[in-house]
Amino acid sequence: MIPVFKPAYDHEEYEALKPVLESGWIGLGPRTEEFEKQFAKYIGVQYAVGLNSCTAALHLAYHVMSVEGREVITTPITFVSTNHAILYNDGVPVFCDVTPDTVNINADEIEKLISKKTGAITVVHYGGHACDMDKVLALAKQYNLKVIEDTAHGCGGEYKGKKLGSIGDVGCFSFHAVKNLAVGEGGMITTNDKDIYERLRKLRWLGISKGTWQREKAGKKYDWQYDVEEVGFKCHMHDISAAIGLVQLKKLDRLNARRREIADVYREGLKDLPWIETPVEHAYTRCSFHNYVIKLEKRDDLNLFLQERGISTGVHYYPNHLYGVYKPYYRKLPVAESIWKKLLTLPLYPDLMQPDIRKILDLIHEFGDKFYK
Ligand SMILES: Cc1ncc(COP(=O)(O)O)c(C=O)c1O
Repeated sequence: MIPVFKPAYDHEEYEALKPVLESGWIGLGPRTEEFEKQFAKYIGVQYAVGLNSCTAALHLAYHVMSVEGREVITTPITFVSTNHAILYNDGVPVFCDVTPDTVNINADEIEKLISKKTGAITVVHYGGHACDMDKVLALAKQYNLKVIEDTAHGCGGEYKGKKLGSIGDVGCFSFHAVKNLAVGEGGMITTNDKDIYERLRKLRWLGISKGTWQREKAGKKYDWQYDVEEVGFKCHMHDISAAIGLVQLKKLDRLNARRREIADVYREGLKDLPWIETPVEHAYTRCSFHNYVIKLEKRDDLNLFLQERGISTGVHYYPNHLYGVYKPYYRKLPVAESIWKKLLTLPLYPDLMQPDIRKILDLIHEFGDKFYK
């Protein structure tokens, strides 16, 4: 089978692991610190906090923004982590409809959802295509709301020359196995707010004031003492992930450029098929091409056709507000409720080779000859 996603590793990731395993320090330590420093620099923010997932990043982001009892305007077309994290914090998700082209949150629909209870707006840069951030930021300023960028898909992508994840109050990243920067499981929060940063550093490790590594390196002898200032969680990154992350970060722009090349081949190869809509890229964004999602009416038929011929595909995503757990928050969202039925994710990863892309395109054309003529 040709998979939908696959991490791009070579000898460098293996080599980066050896010294960590030999060092005797595989927990939260110097590599995590280094990865945080380099990641913040790459994204163009002052601070980054390494975590074990983007789910944890979202959980902590809503926590520091005190969304308990407050409403968070959010998108239904996302992985459930985005919205589960609101519920972890006893917040109230208020689902906003999406735009039919990018399936990002529709910034023109947000204002009518703002109430006295609204505390934050969450955007998901779907597939790595930026949301309409000027409109979102203007509303946030006008109504004094926080902005959370779920940048799980957007690592290395840009909005008007700024890296995604550097625009809102916080950016939440995923380094999960299938993401543009993959470490297996991992995440990061980026921010320019020093207070948020300092609080996040404690919250990720049970609320403890100083990490073990900080206490180890600070003095000549190990300082066992610390304070616990609030009840935190246990969701920090560790140095094994960070060592892979450092290598992947170095390669990220090259890997994203390869993703773009593949997207171009797909676009060119599909342009003569009027029954397929290929992804748009608006002038204000530089998409990171986490995925390649086409839209078509006979989505389920093409899905089956490709699966039966050795091509894995995916559907990203079933609208979250239609899941049972989100019933209490249901609002009618005409675009999201119709468009998801057309979405089909084709294989896209840096090591996807030309003959495989050709095979996928030929099969899609064969499907068209059968079902659309
Ligand atoms: C949009 C979005 N947000 C959040 C997450 C959660 O990321 P993680 O698996 O690192 O917790 C994902 C993961 O697929 C995602 O796609």
